[in-house]
Amino acid sequence: MKHVKTAMLGLGNVHKNLISILEEKRASLGAQYGLEFKIIAISDSSGIAVNEDGFDMAAVLDHKRNGGRVSGLKGYQGTRQQHILNELPLDLIFEATPVDLKTGGEALDICRSALIRGVSVVLANKGPVVQALAELEGLAKKSGAGIGYSATVCGGLPVLNIARRDMVCGDIRKLSGVFNGTSNFIFDALARGMSFDEALLEAQNVGAAEADPTLDIGGWDTAFKLLIIANSVLGANISLDNIEVEGIEEITDEMLIKEKERGNTIKLVANAEEGRFTVKPVLLPIDSFLGSCNGWEMGVEIHSDIYGIMYHKLYEKEPIPTAASMMRDAVNIFRNR
Ligand SMILES: NC(=O)c1ccc[n+]([C@@H]2O[C@H](COP(=O)([O-])OP(=O)(O)OC[C@H]3O[C@@H](n4cnc5c(N)ncnc54)[C@H](OP(=O)(O)O)[C@@H]3O)[C@@H](O)[C@H]2O)c1
Repeated sequence: MKHVKTAMLGLGNVHKNLISILEEKRASLGAQYGLEFKIIAISDSSGIAVNEDGFDMAAVLDHKRNGGRVSGLKGYQGTRQQHILNELPLDLIFEATPVDLKTGGEALDICRSALIRGVSVVLANKGPVVQALAELEGLAKKSGAGIGYSATVCGGLPVLNIARRDMVCGDIRKLSGVFNGTSNFIFDALARGMSFDEALLEAQNVGAAEADPTLDIGGWDTAFKLLIIANSVLGANISLDNIEVEGIEEITDEMLIKEKERGNTIKLVANAEEGRFTVKPVLLPIDSFLGSCNGWEMGVEIHSDIYGIMYHKLYEKEPIPTAASMMRDAVNIFRNR
C-alpha cells in the first residue's frame, strides 16, 4: 500500500465532497490501486494545520460542517501556508481555494514550489492553470512530479481526459461546448418571459449564479475554460486576448420567445475551429446536442479526423463529480508509481 502524504488546501464545497469520497472509497482505492491518501495538512481562510500521523478526516469534516475553522484544530500552525508546506514531507497537494484569475494568487506560488521539489499537485482552482499552465507542466516534467487539473474545466466533464487519453493521434478539427450553468438558467428564464434582471435573480436563487455573476454573464468563465482546453489539448499557445468574447447581456426575453416558436434556442457557446477561438451567444435548434444542454448540464462536442464526432454531456448540480475528478487525477498520478 502506498500512503500518499497529502495536503488539502481549502475546505469548501469541493474539498468537503472530496473528503467524503476518499472516506467512502477508501477500500476500493486500496484494493484496486494500492493507494491510501493520508491527509497530513489542511487549510482554510484561517490558516493551516498539520498532523504528520494523518488527520481523522471524518472528524475534520464534522468540525467544519459545524462552523469550526482550521484555526480551531489541534496542530494549527498559523497562516504562513506556503512556508509550512515547503517544510513537510509531502507527495501531493489538493488545491481548491478561491480562484484568482488575474495573478493565480498564492495558489500559483504554492504550485510552483511544490512542483519544483517534486510534490504533485491536483487542482480544481483554475487560477494557476490559466496563468501559467506551460510553466507548471515544465516544472512537473523536470522534477518528475504529476500535475492534474481536469476538474478546472467543467468539473466532472472529462473534456481534457477524453481529448488527451482517448484520441491518440487524432486531430481535433472543431470543439464546441456549453460550459456555463448560470447562462443556461438565465436563458431558460428569459424564454419563460422574464426580464434579464429577473432571470439573473432566478439564477441566483437556484444557486447557479454567484452574488457577483459578472464573470459568467460576460462570457469570461467560459473563455477561461476554453483557454485551458486550447493550451492543454488543442496544441494552441494562446492567451485570453486570442479569444473573442461576447457575453449574454444583450439577449432579451423577446429574442428567446421568438426563437422558441421557431424551434430554436440560444446558448453561450465556446468554439475552437481552425485556430479561431470564440465565446458568444449562438442560435441553435432546441433539439441539437448543445441546444439541449439545459440547467445544470454542461456539454462538449468534439469533431476529429479519425474519432468521428463525439458528444459528451454531464449533469452536475453539487460538486461531487468535480471532487471525484480530483480523486481521479490523483489516482492517475500515483497508480503506476
Ligand atoms: N464548486 C464547484 O462546482 C467547482 C467546480 C470546479 C472548480 N471549482 C473551483 O474549486 C475551487 C473551490 O471551490 P469551492 O466551491 O469549494 O469554493 P468554496 O466553497 O468557496 O471554498 C473555498 C475554500 O477555500 C478556503 N480559503 C479561502 N482562502 C484561502 C486561503 N488563502 N488559503 C487556504 N484556504 C482558503 C475557504 O476557507 P473558509 O472555509 O474559511 O471560508 C474555503 O474553505 C474554486 O477555485 C472554484 O472555482 C469549483
